[in-house]
Amino acid sequence: MSVEHEFPKDFWWGAATSGPQSEGRFHKAHRSVFDYWFDTEPQAFFDGVGPNVASNFYNDYRHDIALMKKVGLNSVRTSIQWTRLIKDFETGETDPDGVRFYNDVIDEFLQQGIRPILNLHHFDLPIELYERYGGWTSKHVVDLFALFAKRCFELFGDRVKDWVTFNEPMVVVEGEYLYEFHYPKLVDGKKACQVLYNLNLASAKAIQAFRETDCPKLGGRIGIVLNLTPAYPRSDSPEDIAAAKFAEDYKNNSFLDPAVHGTFTKSLVDQLEKDGVLWTSTPEELKIIKNNTVDFLGINYYQPFRAKKRETPFDESRGWLPEKHFENYEMPGRRMNPYRGWEIYPKAIYDIAINVRDKLGNIPWYISENGMGVEGEEKYRNKDGFIEDDYRIDFIKEHLGWLHKAMQEGSNCFGYHLWTPIDCWSWSNAYKNRYGLIALDLVTQQKTIKKSGYWMHDVIANHGF
Ligand code: BG6
Repeated sequence: MSVEHEFPKDFWWGAATSGPQSEGRFHKAHRSVFDYWFDTEPQAFFDGVGPNVASNFYNDYRHDIALMKKVGLNSVRTSIQWTRLIKDFETGETDPDGVRFYNDVIDEFLQQGIRPILNLHHFDLPIELYERYGGWTSKHVVDLFALFAKRCFELFGDRVKDWVTFNEPMVVVEGEYLYEFHYPKLVDGKKACQVLYNLNLASAKAIQAFRETDCPKLGGRIGIVLNLTPAYPRSDSPEDIAAAKFAEDYKNNSFLDPAVHGTFTKSLVDQLEKDGVLWTSTPEELKIIKNNTVDFLGINYYQPFRAKKRETPFDESRGWLPEKHFENYEMPGRRMNPYRGWEIYPKAIYDIAINVRDKLGNIPWYISENGMGVEGEEKYRNKDGFIEDDYRIDFIKEHLGWLHKAMQEGSNCFGYHLWTPIDCWSWSNAYKNRYGLIALDLVTQQKTIKKSGYWMHDVIANHGF
């Protein structure tokens, strides 16, 4: 069948999830910061639902992977939970049930002809490492992460070819140290900057460990998944443009530049130094970052960021914050996803793709997450028993349209993954908003393909739409 938007035959069509959001806590020896937060403050989670069961992937993975296969996905990303795989964080001794579980999952994906992409950190720092060392503020934790990563490469690198060091490290910085949406919910701009640096260092050290194993010889590649929120200025005024430039440097380039070029953005470093919040680093660490850049990029795109110059004086009472240099601009008439409160702006995916082409050496990259969380989807279930989520199909079409255009213009994109294959647990929003191609009934744990899943099946079969 001929299609208007044709994608390459070897394009990755898939979806992404994560260990903590899908597996459930069954048989886990340790608790992540989210497990701990839920145990101590369950009321902070939508409807009091925590990560205990999630979508039960730990028990149901064979059935779940069969459903993903039925949708036609050729690649799926999930993550290995540090708190499940490792028994002793200091020595890297592994937990036998954790090893068995991830071996089984990988083998099942491969048996079904689905390429597994394995990520090593999805906001799930072990709480013990926060309590003992201060979490990501500690360079010892950076080394423990590299040790965990090494174990993963040794155990699974014979079969897994595509690895990711971190998912959305900026969300750790923002959630834990700036805007109070991840435990420990601190507001501490100086620590945030150190964590930003340490996460870049941890990614580089994991990449270094990867290159010391046989993985590259076996055809393995390693990358990072970054959430990009392109910063658009409110107007052409030099002040608005400067505000957007700082937001772009802080939110996006702070991970993009070290990951791809091995160096930090000079304008960002200069500004943070001037503000007295620059991280501490050593020449040896900077060399590790320089020498261990990524093979590919995963880009999560949900929403743009709109900036304007500061119009009110910056409130110094909470110390330094990135907002010292910009204000959030709520553009009149913007299109919103009201359930998540995120602007819908598909063209940004084109802008991101062209930026990769022109500013990031056209490194191989893929959309590792994109998607639309909707509340109350059960009301769209039809008499045949499946959810008619036409809004999701339209959302995907619009984004794929812009991505297609950028690829026609030479951007080196090799795939598109939706968030998420099966409705999964969404941090403090729990099961409020659903994102999946496959619906989850929380009570019965029954899983049914949505209309978008059937539509995606045809897109994949036709290499486009
Ligand atoms: C991304 C994350 O930020 O967006 C996922 O990688 C997350 O973990 C997804 O679930 C959707 O966001 P949310 O907050 O609605 O779950």
